[in-house]
Amino acid sequence: MDLSTAIHELESLEASGLESFRTSSRPEEVEAARIEYLGLKQGKIKAAQERLKLIEPSARKQYGQRFNTVKKALEAAWESAKARLERPEAAISGLDVTRPGTPRPRLGHRHPLTQTADELIDLFGRLGFGVARGPEVEDVFHNFEALNIPLSHPARDPADNFYLSDGALLRSQTSTIQIRVMERQAPPVRIVAIGRVYRPDEVDPTHSFMFHQIEGLMVDRGITMAHLKSTLRLFAQGYLGEDVQIRFRPSFFPFTEPSVEVDMLWHGGDRWVEMGGAGMVDPNVLRAVGYDPDEVTGFAFGLGVERLCMRRHGIDDIRQFTLNDVRFLSQF
Ligand code: DAH
Repeated sequence: MDLSTAIHELESLEASGLESFRTSSRPEEVEAARIEYLGLKQGKIKAAQERLKLIEPSARKQYGQRFNTVKKALEAAWESAKARLERPEAAISGLDVTRPGTPRPRLGHRHPLTQTADELIDLFGRLGFGVARGPEVEDVFHNFEALNIPLSHPARDPADNFYLSDGALLRSQTSTIQIRVMERQAPPVRIVAIGRVYRPDEVDPTHSFMFHQIEGLMVDRGITMAHLKSTLRLFAQGYLGEDVQIRFRPSFFPFTEPSVEVDMLWHGGDRWVEMGGAGMVDPNVLRAVGYDPDEVTGFAFGLGVERLCMRRHGIDDIRQFTLNDVRFLSQF
């Protein structure tokens, strides 16, 4: 066999072998190509090696060298075909690697008000307050009567409450929970309760028909207004920062005597915004739950959770909390 024919055959063997490895897209195809070209018994490389004997001795060296490069090239092509198929994306036929990737699913997180609630509970927990709960659908006894709000009181007006058909109502304040806790438990009491309250208020940047309050109640021997003031001040500093300014204004609530309203200096520093109400638990309330006002006294407070969160984060509109705008929510 003359050398140039033999080399020509080697080269077409190389070209077709490389092509087979390059285009195989499944492991079975790679294996079939390996057997066809590199198979030890009947592979084409094996045959090409045996052709050496047919070449005249003086040309064998040259053929041998070319043979070796072809064999190495096919072995390398086999390796790289195997490696290519080991990558998982190659298992999907028709994969277009130039397409944009699948976006990572966006992780959700807790609503800013839920985060606030947890933080408030944590802060009061460190001041020794446990957590209580109460129903959102209340009866008039817990929402009004036991809180010393008589039938004639304007706070009971149907225009200011969401009454339900069976005489129950959506609670207008979390002070209901004070009553429920004291009914169940003898003094001392030290709890906070967070929940929704409902009032048919005109909606504006600081008012809504549904919002959250955090209610606090502490009843024990010798509790005074000083305990109330220092508790609220400590809390405000803890939640809003050491340099927060709050003020107490004399006020009136049927269930406290004396009563105060608590304001905080709003972010921007140019106006005071009401944080909530507070006071010393009225003796009538203590009596309504069977406590002896000559034995124990207590303080109570009810603060607006949205407003605390707004002050803390510089939010200007309470409606943001219920709009479900991801651009707003994702900032927390
Ligand atoms: N319940 C009152 C309101 O909704 C706030 C309040 C005032 C709660 C005085 C209290 C309190 O516990 O002692 O406006």
